[in-house]
Amino acid sequence: MAGTTTDLERQLAELLEQERFEPPQAFVQDALIKDRSVHEEAERDPEGWWREQARALHWFSEPEQALDDSNPPFYTWFADGTLNASYNCLDRHVEAGLGDRVAFHWRGEEGEEREITYAWLLEQTQRAANALKDHGVGEGDVVGIFLPMIPEVVVAMLACARIGAPHNVVFGGFSAESVRERMEFSDAKALITVDGARRKGKVAAVKAAVDAVGMPVKTTIVVRHTGLEECPMGEGDVWWHEALEAADPECAPAQLGAEHPLFILYSSGSTAKPKGIQHTTGGYLTHVAWTHKHVFDLKPESDVYFCSADVGWITGHSYIVYGPLLNATTSVMYEGAPDYPHKGIWWELCERYGATIFYTAPTAIRACIKWGVEHVEKADLSRLRLLGTVGEPINPKAWLWYWKVVGGERCPVVDTWWQTETGGIMITTLPGAQAMKPGVAGTPLPGIAAAVLTEEGEEVPRGTQGLLSLSRPWPGMLRTLFGDDDRYVGTYWEKWGPETYLVGDASKQDDEDYVSVIGRVDDVLNVSGHRMSTAEIESAIVSHGKVAEAAVIGAADEDTGQSVAAFVTLEGDLQGSDELVAEIREHVAVRIGKLARPKRIIWADDLPKTRSGKIMRRLLKDIAEGRELGDVTTLRDPHVMAQLEGKIKERA
Ligand code: WT7
Repeated sequence: MAGTTTDLERQLAELLEQERFEPPQAFVQDALIKDRSVHEEAERDPEGWWREQARALHWFSEPEQALDDSNPPFYTWFADGTLNASYNCLDRHVEAGLGDRVAFHWRGEEGEEREITYAWLLEQTQRAANALKDHGVGEGDVVGIFLPMIPEVVVAMLACARIGAPHNVVFGGFSAESVRERMEFSDAKALITVDGARRKGKVAAVKAAVDAVGMPVKTTIVVRHTGLEECPMGEGDVWWHEALEAADPECAPAQLGAEHPLFILYSSGSTAKPKGIQHTTGGYLTHVAWTHKHVFDLKPESDVYFCSADVGWITGHSYIVYGPLLNATTSVMYEGAPDYPHKGIWWELCERYGATIFYTAPTAIRACIKWGVEHVEKADLSRLRLLGTVGEPINPKAWLWYWKVVGGERCPVVDTWWQTETGGIMITTLPGAQAMKPGVAGTPLPGIAAAVLTEEGEEVPRGTQGLLSLSRPWPGMLRTLFGDDDRYVGTYWEKWGPETYLVGDASKQDDEDYVSVIGRVDDVLNVSGHRMSTAEIESAIVSHGKVAEAAVIGAADEDTGQSVAAFVTLEGDLQGSDELVAEIREHVAVRIGKLARPKRIIWADDLPKTRSGKIMRRLLKDIAEGRELGDVTTLRDPHVMAQLEGKIKERA
């Protein structure tokens, strides 16, 4: 192991010189893919190649067609095939004799353990599907899901999929107000939630909070998890366990067209209104099944896979639920926070369940670095053989620490680039086939095409920064924004036309086609790998009665990648104070969720604006990050900047 901290630091500093890491020989020997011939094969006929990969799924009727690009950017995949997601995740494995296989080693915050088998999931899913039907949910009806990391969240999603009711999962860290808004936007018929959620030894009364804002749904189904006595049940409220018990145990999977919507997932864009990213069935499942298997080099008989994300984000949808279950994987699912009950809990769980593959976010790795190697070294991680990251650029130092301290220099690290919109992983290295470059995600996966462009859509020379684009449709792509085709076209397909998808990230590509992703170029923030919109946070802050105006920016942050900084102008003569900081932070927590609370609030008498009245965020970013100010001559009132700079200095 790594020895003392100073030794480790010296070793990491040495490794920092190394730009390229070949996959370890021992890993390559047993890897599913050992060279780039799959990339080449797919490149010769991407559509035909994807159609082959779709055979990994069970189809009630096989698709003849792969891509239909007759109406860009409204692409479809495998449109003439029919299938069911829950059948593919459960029934076919149970029919193949895998009913007793553990799908999830579930660990509760207080140390409880549940072994969730494929047979149990299938039984519960059928009952839950019937329970939804019993309460008036039919094919095409949207169902909201607001649940913590408990096995029931998986059952709830698959039950929806079984009857063709698109699910709309809201991450448990969002506020009830955010849930209400998302239920309203998606016209949800029912909501599945919980009595209470545990967080670091405390219990939050979720159902009561949901009631307090009032949900625009007919039925609320409530999972009893914490056994909260004060869980209010009113008209239209049903206990999950009672509904499942009363339901018929058999529910035939609906035979759905491949383009039937599987789910919508709200994500932040550059306006205050979140975007309902809509994914369909056949293409999405093909994409996540292939990528989960090959990016993680999965051997379902022997691997134990642990993804530390929350089911409420796309990572959880694609790489905790659908991808792993399609591949009959045994996973670890943990209810709690990474530092509860102690800072070594992930590694303890890796040892306990024999995890071989671990997938997390760079921000978590940076937190682990801060907490110290001793928490990692306490556990026996010798079964780990592959590591992955997702959500934000990983700085080479964190990459190397992960590689050395967690992976013992024997586990390839896959840095996976993708988005809620892409459905699945798009750019990374195949671990047995490609060298790794710390801080550089990798190449487009087989079948995927990317290019780095200028604003005008010209390819930039290699090594030059530009805008990342995806130049060919792929099966897991979003199909539209829920109920808003115009916004779909306007957001992703207007800049360069309906054949070139605008990613929204700045990036560079090297001579070997490796893409490094630098960060967002729009008003989308990335805090700890969580996506948020400046406009959404601004609108929450401004809705506080004492606030006149607010501008939010993402300031570079060592721990969280970016952090939320808010420049706030108060009403009238009001003066900023610590109490008001707390009030505004709490206000944002209620409107959006704790994750969106500004880390810093800077009182501003006025905000820097152009003559046409547009807030100049670039300047605010310079201030918050302590940089020399650039050109301020286009400002309506250049003095504003001097005043703001003065404030920052006072604080420092
Ligand atoms: C944005 C998408 C994909 C699931 C989690 C985030 C950033 C994501 C990487 C990576 C650099 C990354 C991009 C992207 N991002 N993965 N490996 N390297 N940046 O999904 O919330 O839809 O956010 O996350 O900026 O556009 P999301």
